Amino acid sequence: MQLPDFPWDSLAPAAARARAHPGGIVDLSVGTPVDPTPQVVQDALRAASDAPGYPQTWGTPDLREAVAGWFARRRGVPDVDPDGVLPTVGSKELVAWLPTLLGLGAGDLVVHPEVAYPTYDVGARIAGATPVPADGTAQLGPASSAGPVRLVWLNSPSNPTGRVLGREHLAKVVRWARERGAIVASDECYAELDWSADGVGSVPSVLDPEVCGGSHEGLLAVYSLSKQSSVAGYRAAFVAGDPALVRRLLEVRKHAGMIVPWPVQRAMLAALGDDEHVAAQKARYRARRDRLAPALQQAGFRIDHSQAGLYLWATRDEPAGATVAGLADLGILVAPGTFYGAAGAQHVRVALTASDERVEAAAQRLTSRSG
Ligand SMILES: Cc1ncc(COP(=O)(O)O)c(C=O)c1O
Repeated sequence: MQLPDFPWDSLAPAAARARAHPGGIVDLSVGTPVDPTPQVVQDALRAASDAPGYPQTWGTPDLREAVAGWFARRRGVPDVDPDGVLPTVGSKELVAWLPTLLGLGAGDLVVHPEVAYPTYDVGARIAGATPVPADGTAQLGPASSAGPVRLVWLNSPSNPTGRVLGREHLAKVVRWARERGAIVASDECYAELDWSADGVGSVPSVLDPEVCGGSHEGLLAVYSLSKQSSVAGYRAAFVAGDPALVRRLLEVRKHAGMIVPWPVQRAMLAALGDDEHVAAQKARYRARRDRLAPALQQAGFRIDHSQAGLYLWATRDEPAGATVAGLADLGILVAPGTFYGAAGAQHVRVALTASDERVEAAAQRLTSRSG
């Protein structure tokens, strides 16, 4: 199996440069939450710490119902079947293993966005399938002549670009996939972090009735609590959609021991039942975004897309490596767009996941240099 080098390893020289800044490094290169896990979630984890028995791989019925309730309340999807819900050990493992769990292999094509979270590609490779970067059905046409497309990944809001796909776009992909018997998996883990609107369903889900025509057949929505609830350390996520597909995943996962620990299942239940901490976390990220975006613009950057999610997709129309090096001189570490595909060659991804103090330091360095 040919896996790519782990991209972040190559950032070591820029990181060393940034660390040498007298004011210390501002690390905006990784989207790892830094704010405390909300008390309500910590309390639930603690209260469930007595766990001598094996937990259910499928998750308890109340957890699966809470996920269905969250889709109805927060995503405008009223008809998620709790039988079509499965907790996962974070969503990265599901992304990386989904092609394998679905039985894909040599000759099968896995389509993913052109500029994308690297794990879609990795997951196809782990299964021995072929990753195909393509945006939109027009590009998918020619790609599919190389073999059958078995799985199409969507990611909205996108990591790294922050682009949100509208209902029409999603519906078109769903129709295209259904005509070919391909599964659509939609990674929606930044859906609660929409900067252009606050309304329910402002970031449409692939399970939205207008997108899927009222049937979840062949569709999976992948979601994570890591960012909205600052629980990346818990590994708390889920997949939801077509009950028949979920049952297939469940069968393999039961045999393979891919089980969300009991205290984490209970913490997820608490997190899904409390919208207040999600709103508070969103407000924190919004304030950081409102500080960083204009500072980057003042320093000569253009910010593309970025209407939702945890990142600013920024460019100075120069090679990404030059931007990374220039920002490292200011003690600011960002990820080059090249980590996400060739189309990211002139962009950098700036994460909003640093403390207010570090974000303020970055903004001041950016604006004092350009002022
Ligand atoms: C698009 C996307 N999907 C999945 C993940 C994985 O999240 P987790 O494994 O914490 O649920 C990330 C993490 O950054 C992501 O950006």
